[in-house]
Amino acid sequence: MTNAELIQISIDSQRLSYSPYSKFKVGAALLTVDNIIYTGANIENAAYPVTICAERTAFIKAILDEQTKFVKIAITASSNEFCFPCGSCRQFMNEFTDEKFEIIVFDGKTINSIKLTKLLPHSFGKSNLL
Ligand code: THU
Repeated sequence: MTNAELIQISIDSQRLSYSPYSKFKVGAALLTVDNIIYTGANIENAAYPVTICAERTAFIKAILDEQTKFVKIAITASSNEFCFPCGSCRQFMNEFTDEKFEIIVFDGKTINSIKLTKLLPHSFGKSNLL
């Protein structure tokens, strides 16, 4: 699965976004080591903080499908600007990924790839609690 293919799936997933408040549609496509793709989209709420980001909806679908190993996630937004994951999503994804996990973003022209560990350095995680 190329980054370009995964980006296209995340763009297609934007149509599932429920975002009547921000009107900012986000799509995500999460790839597992077994080459399964889980899509996600942001789901907003009238009580704004209850909103769930696209990245977390994709992960939750995968986790409840008993998937445990992830390769990369593509994230796109209707604004056509790079949509890097918010701080809560970085922490959420850190729980279920290893140091090789990649974040793929697209601004309508260029695909960028960056490791989650670079977006969330010195993270707090499972190993801190051992
Ligand atoms: N959002 C995401 O789904 N993912 C991100 O990485 C950034 C923000 C959503 C949350 C909310 O529905 C809208 O974008 C505006 O913040």
